[in-house]
Amino acid sequence: MKTLIKGGTIVNADAMFRADVLVDGEEIALIGVDLDVPADKVIDATGKWIIPGGIDGHTHMELPFGGTFAKDTFETGTRAAAFGGTTTIIDFAVQPMGGTFHQGLDIWHEKADGKACIDYGFHMIVSDMRDELLPEMDRLVEEGVTDFKLFTAYPGVFYSDDARIFKALRQTTRNGGLILMHAENGPVIDVVAADLVAQGTTDPIGHGLARYPVFEGEATNRVIRLAKAAGAPVYFVHLSATDALDEVRQAHHEGLPVFAETCPQYLFLGLDDLGNGFEGSKFVCSPPLRDWKAGHQAELWKGLISDDLQLVGTDHCPFDFHGQKELGRGDFRKIPNGLPGVEERVDLVHDGGVVSGKITPSRWVELVSTAPARIFGLPKKGSVSVGLDADIVVYDPNRKHVLSAKTHHMDVDYSCYEGREVQGGSDVVISRGKVVVENGQWLGSAGHGKFLRREPRGFAEATRSKLAKPAPAAVG
Ligand code: URP
Ligand code: ZN
Ligand code: ZN
Repeated sequence: MKTLIKGGTIVNADAMFRADVLVDGEEIALIGVDLDVPADKVIDATGKWIIPGGIDGHTHMELPFGGTFAKDTFETGTRAAAFGGTTTIIDFAVQPMGGTFHQGLDIWHEKADGKACIDYGFHMIVSDMRDELLPEMDRLVEEGVTDFKLFTAYPGVFYSDDARIFKALRQTTRNGGLILMHAENGPVIDVVAADLVAQGTTDPIGHGLARYPVFEGEATNRVIRLAKAAGAPVYFVHLSATDALDEVRQAHHEGLPVFAETCPQYLFLGLDDLGNGFEGSKFVCSPPLRDWKAGHQAELWKGLISDDLQLVGTDHCPFDFHGQKELGRGDFRKIPNGLPGVEERVDLVHDGGVVSGKITPSRWVELVSTAPARIFGLPKKGSVSVGLDADIVVYDPNRKHVLSAKTHHMDVDYSCYEGREVQGGSDVVISRGKVVVENGQWLGSAGHGKFLRREPRGFAEATRSKLAKPAPAAVG
């Protein structure tokens, strides 16, 4: 099957130019101006951008959490991702407490195999970093599960102490893997949260009040210092606060291999959303949404421009308001933590970043596709280039649409961005050569998505220097 995309403008992280694209089978076969070659299907991309499919390096399909499960399955979640212009996800498998990494991995393969509509990889959540599991980390890296998420948060659930984090970091210096950190001081947060509940603050706003920005900054600093001592790289997931960003900036000044992502919710939402009585539960996630007045959101945008933050993932972890978030009525500590967002990321960052003039179209592509491909070891993804997988989106940078639970494809009963108009939308989405979305119609199928064995980062000074290049000038 050959598909010719004609008349569009390719937007890659390193260049933007007018060209046609020929897809042959699963790969990009040819790129050139005014290509005149036979094809089974021709897509008119006049006036549109041709971008590499989005890569969301942070999702939680069916995550067991807070006494329930994140609602999207690999089928519904990856379908929704595709509608939003994302053609690869990296989901977090979970090591069962007391069990091995491979036991967790088997469960996740079972969830995804035959169901995912787009390609997917796995990270490994470390619930219980026992010494005897250190060699198993090496085997996972060899098998293409190259990173491990540890937590300084959630005592009694996923929390690891400093010694365990240090040992895991040290192990990655031997096996080429990468430690991903959820950095918030969980034990101290629990003290403040208990105080708030004792004083009568039981609504969702208590979640935001208990988790001070400094608790994220402190944990970020601590882990950076542990990583420096271990001689290991480290990556911070869902960075939300200036306090943490300042620590990452300082690490970059020192030349340390520290990476960090933020998420749309920390750019577009704020502490106020946690108000409004129990409605605020729709916005309970960790770290929490931060106060606009304290300037966190503006600083995160600066971090994306300066490349102190390398990418935007979603932390997609959807729980229905009815029946799931409601588990925490009367005690905010029992609200399942997590927000939906896998479908909205590409458009939100385009609208808030490119349309508003903060970043260039190429930087947008880098944040939502190219940087995750490089950092997470996916050499066949993240660019519209000959020989790479034909994961392509024909993107209309001018089309306006309204985000709403009435129209989204995620299996969750609310949208965090209900009623928000965004500019930019995915018209045609191609996953490894197959058109899966065209003009709002679903043409894909469960099971089309393949498991991606990722490459250990080999710790790529190359990656680091690539990503640490001077930030593209803001447009407008
Ligand atoms: O609130 C969140 N972030 N839920 C998902 C689990 C995690 O910590 O990433
Ligand atoms: Zn986390
Ligand atoms: Zn997460």
